[in-house]
Amino acid sequence: MIGREMNLAVVGLGYWGPNLVRAAVELEDTHVHTLCDTDADRLAQQGRRYSSARLTNDYDEVLADDEIDAILLATPIVTHHNLALRALAAGKHVFVEKPLANSTAECAELIEAADDRGLILMPGHTFLYSPPVVKIKEMLDSDELGELFFLTSTRVNLGIHQSDSSVIRDLAPHDFSILHYWLGQPAFVRAIARDSIVPGTMDVAFIDLGYDSGTLVRIELSWLAPTKLRRTVLAGRRKMVVYDDTSNEPVRVFDRGVDVIEPQSYGEHRLAYRVGDVLSPRLDVDEPLRVELADFVDSIREGRQPRSSARVGLDVVRMVEAAETSLHYNGAPVALDASLDERRRSPDRRRSHSGMPLLRGASADAAEAASMLPSIPVQ
Ligand SMILES: NC(=O)c1ccc[n+]([C@@H]2O[C@H](COP(=O)([O-])OP(=O)(O)OC[C@H]3O[C@@H](n4cnc5c(N)ncnc54)[C@H](O)[C@@H]3O)[C@@H](O)[C@H]2O)c1
Repeated sequence: MIGREMNLAVVGLGYWGPNLVRAAVELEDTHVHTLCDTDADRLAQQGRRYSSARLTNDYDEVLADDEIDAILLATPIVTHHNLALRALAAGKHVFVEKPLANSTAECAELIEAADDRGLILMPGHTFLYSPPVVKIKEMLDSDELGELFFLTSTRVNLGIHQSDSSVIRDLAPHDFSILHYWLGQPAFVRAIARDSIVPGTMDVAFIDLGYDSGTLVRIELSWLAPTKLRRTVLAGRRKMVVYDDTSNEPVRVFDRGVDVIEPQSYGEHRLAYRVGDVLSPRLDVDEPLRVELADFVDSIREGRQPRSSARVGLDVVRMVEAAETSLHYNGAPVALDASLDERRRSPDRRRSHSGMPLLRGASADAAEAASMLPSIPVQ
């Protein structure tokens, strides 16, 4: 644990990195010690803004500097595993932008390296620190919505097309991390997608998830939409919620639903439609990125795991891989194994839980198809 001011290095100063630097300089008892990018122009530009930081284009210099306690990585996804592993080997705590790494195998290797050295490894799932997401988590935990029947989510915009990625790799980690925070690991994932503009680059995807509780989820992701939409609807037995991240009232809670009234005679189903109040709960005004980095720094100081833990990062990448496997099998549902921690607690779970868990309403054909597919291996 570190009693003095903590020294941070931010590596990668492209599109997202400068946001990390801006949030990191606001943190208490920390110092942005070094900025690093292989691109001289980007490095110089940030250097002009933060004159107290040392500048380097050589990552090895960051690793060799004993004054640096922790490294924040905002480099391309393909570099995450290599740069994070080297940082952990050099004894540095690591914050790495989402997703944690390119594959579950890479994530598991990073987790092992961090655990072995007692270092904090944290993926940057910023939405876990967003006030609307936290508010909805509280409502779910307190059962305010009642049984959650289903959830739909739309995350679409025009661009940015990334030839080395897909809309699933780019955008799904946001929805998957939020869903993981709210509902835990799903039982199965299925996905369809297409490459509308650049051959081979998926730019629109529709992903379904099913949970052991019976909750169903549908996610629409696209880089090809006329307007930006960030909208999630949760339909519970007691209440419904609309979370619109582009609205100045991002969370609205509807006291609306359908109640089944005690039947008067056999076979009769009488329904009563509830149309009650709409509430817009008060939300914290903290900037998610600042709260996220504060959790990173505090978890180092307090020797505890951050909310956006490396295990969460691994589960998110597992969901991405399951969606991609489903794409490969033309949208067939892919069962997800238990998370790393669940497997450790209950090593027999895989056998007792083999194949596709049957959800209420899921077709037997889909279940059979999924049970024949490879499930995502747990590292
Ligand atoms: N949390 C969010 O909402 C959010 C939003 C956008 C991007 N991201 C994540 O941020 C990361 C970076 O994305 P981006 O869009 O900023 O990418 P980018 O390509 O714009 O920037 C990456 C930077 O890293 C530098 N770099 C690459 N390898 C390096 C190395 N070995 N040493 C030093 N510098 C190196 C590049 O020169 C470049 O300036 C990705 O993981 C992405 O998923 C997160």
